[in-house]
Amino acid sequence: EKGGFPHFMLKEIFEQPECINDCMRGRINGTLHEVTLSAVNDHKEQLLNAQRFVIVACGTSWHAGLIGKQLIETFCRIPVEVEYASEFRYRNPVLTNRDVVIAISQSGETADTLAAVELAKSQGAFVYGICNAVGSSIPRITDSGSYIHVGPEIGVASTKAFTGQVTVLTMFALTLGKEKGEISTADYNRIIDELLQIPEKITEVLKQNESIASLSRIFTYAHNFLYLGRGYSYPVALEGALKLKEISYIHAEGYPAAEMKHGPIALVDTEMPVVVIATQNAMYEKIVSNVQETKARKGHIIALINKQDTVIRKIADECIEIPETLECLEPLVTTIPLQLLAYHIAVCKGKDVDQPRNLAKSVTVE
Ligand code: M6R
Repeated sequence: EKGGFPHFMLKEIFEQPECINDCMRGRINGTLHEVTLSAVNDHKEQLLNAQRFVIVACGTSWHAGLIGKQLIETFCRIPVEVEYASEFRYRNPVLTNRDVVIAISQSGETADTLAAVELAKSQGAFVYGICNAVGSSIPRITDSGSYIHVGPEIGVASTKAFTGQVTVLTMFALTLGKEKGEISTADYNRIIDELLQIPEKITEVLKQNESIASLSRIFTYAHNFLYLGRGYSYPVALEGALKLKEISYIHAEGYPAAEMKHGPIALVDTEMPVVVIATQNAMYEKIVSNVQETKARKGHIIALINKQDTVIRKIADECIEIPETLECLEPLVTTIPLQLLAYHIAVCKGKDVDQPRNLAKSVTVE
């Protein structure tokens, strides 16, 4: 049942190229350059007239929501807020029938997310679900939505559901952005072409599994980890840190890299591994100086870089190569080595990666 893998988590990490293809199947036509999410078409007016989107979710799904915010704001020019479902439901939030609430949940059963959906509906908002488990509670009570179609996720640490959620959010933003006329045909076509290449690029990253496994051995001693990223990579840093915490029990924090000098850099010394997402995008120059600042404090830097990188390669202690893609699609690729890093560190420490202590796969009580 684990398909020859020692754990469900590793199996699910390796399934991601296929899962993303499943998620895009029937929704993207590469030849015609067309993305069609049927739920978006069915509720076009409601979505096009939204004055605001509010994304509600927990944990990893909340991290996918942060990426969704950037995608929707960039391609649709509609403001998006991202809230922890547990906070939203008790906050007496201001909602109107021009708001669209997007609930993201792998299981479709998370108690706080379900309660947030009920609250949003009672306030007259239109609710759109992005879920994996077909027929679960959230998709049953939402007004509309899209399944991510990545198949059952068994490992407690969410992996393929995250990349599936980000893929659906990308297709959602592209479909709506096109309808709204906020995205140029050239950009739309280019993103579609690149999105279709993502499964192959993930496969390329997966080939580094062995080297990530050996690199992981160095870090079993660590008590703390920092994960840094900017722009689209900031939520990926949060997600990398969450993966490490939940399965290896090492304390880890994700930060937007520029926030380091506002406090956290004080923590950096020779015993602090710092994972930096430093791909060559618009934020690259900024990230280089953040990396230099961290290195000056003797942090042990593990950098995610593109092949042609020469600058960070010289500063970082360890490097993991990431195939190039468009900045807005990078999370789908940069997440993969962080999942593997967390997995291998946990395995080296002898932890039960599929059933970490104190955690349940779906949190059906608050
Ligand atoms: O089923 P959901 O997506 O609603 O679950 C939300 C969180 O409980 C979940 O993502 C949790 O954070 C994972 N264990 C993270 O790996």
